[in-house]
Amino acid sequence: SFDDGRPVTDLSSGALPGSELVAEVMPEVGQLLRRHLPDSGYHPAGLPELRQALAAGFTGRGLPTGPDEIVITAGSQQAVWLIATALTGPGTRTLVEDPSYRGALEAFAGAGGRVQGVRFTPTGTDLGLLDGAAAAAGAAGLLYAQTALHNPTGVHTPAPHRRELAAIAARHGLLVVDDQSQADLAWHRSEPLPGLDRLADPARLLTVGTLSKLFWGGIRVGWVRGPREIVGRLVEVRRAVDLGSPVADQLAALLLLPRAAAQRAERRAFLLRQYADTEQVLREVLPGWRWWPPAGGSGLWIDTGEDAVALSGRALEHGLRLTPGPAFSPHHSHRGHVRLPVWHPHSTLLDVARTLATLTDPREA
Ligand SMILES: Cc1ncc(COP(=O)(O)O)c(C=O)c1O
Repeated sequence: SFDDGRPVTDLSSGALPGSELVAEVMPEVGQLLRRHLPDSGYHPAGLPELRQALAAGFTGRGLPTGPDEIVITAGSQQAVWLIATALTGPGTRTLVEDPSYRGALEAFAGAGGRVQGVRFTPTGTDLGLLDGAAAAAGAAGLLYAQTALHNPTGVHTPAPHRRELAAIAARHGLLVVDDQSQADLAWHRSEPLPGLDRLADPARLLTVGTLSKLFWGGIRVGWVRGPREIVGRLVEVRRAVDLGSPVADQLAALLLLPRAAAQRAERRAFLLRQYADTEQVLREVLPGWRWWPPAGGSGLWIDTGEDAVALSGRALEHGLRLTPGPAFSPHHSHRGHVRLPVWHPHSTLLDVARTLATLTDPREA
């Protein structure tokens, strides 16, 4: 990409390149489309067969689900936006992990309610702080969490901690949004990483998912699973936005879902190779950088040991776009951190690390 006419190496996004499988299913999508052309093509809640397939998936994982408890969205970003828009606003309080996913922070801030960060640790949300914040928020509160695999840190919250978090939410009557967008990108297991599915009260739980991480961000298919009544409210908001997702994308999703296990294996092998490479480059070129070893995902949450906002500013002057920590915080904290994607080719990574090494400020270290 270009910035002021100069080439920029963009390290600001963790989005992975698309899977070959997306192109492979397209001829069959063309065939299946024929059956849909006699209809209007508008499905605000999602294509019935895709809702059915996703509901069957949840049921198979131990959370009995009907198609009317699923709404298909344009990626999980729209899923979170619909939740923020339909369920929060002036007078509500949304608790988020700090740091958290940028797009969610923007959606909740945009809805106009109060957004409060709760410290996130290498084993999950600080439960003592969560308990206090939940008590203050009360039953009008909402908790947005990523217990399966957390963006940007790559932390998987272990089962006892997830159970306790669910108990705190239940005690205070919080509505819980469990964003499992990253759950398919586990590095050390073949199944998706588990979230709050069978731990939280299903009547107060919204589970968010997407095909973006596994297959491609260009397939704009995500979803929310939740109680019928809340799903109905999300569908009403969705209707006013764009009347529904493209039928072709949803048919592609239907064909891709059965190939999820194979694609997870491919992503896992790729990301593990990339991580080994990234680790080696960083240890050699930027030995002062520290990070929590991730359970998965496509990036590292790095403590640079200096002002990473200033570093990112200098980096941009040298053609590198990085996202510093405050972008991931409702309170603009984490000034020392950057999120570094691990999927770039070795040569890019080495160039980036070497450039950054010349820009680090030894006075701040
Ligand atoms: C936690 C989380 N939620 C939602 C999204 C949005 O993804 P998409 O809209 O492509 O499904 C992302 C993408 O980075 C994410 O990490």
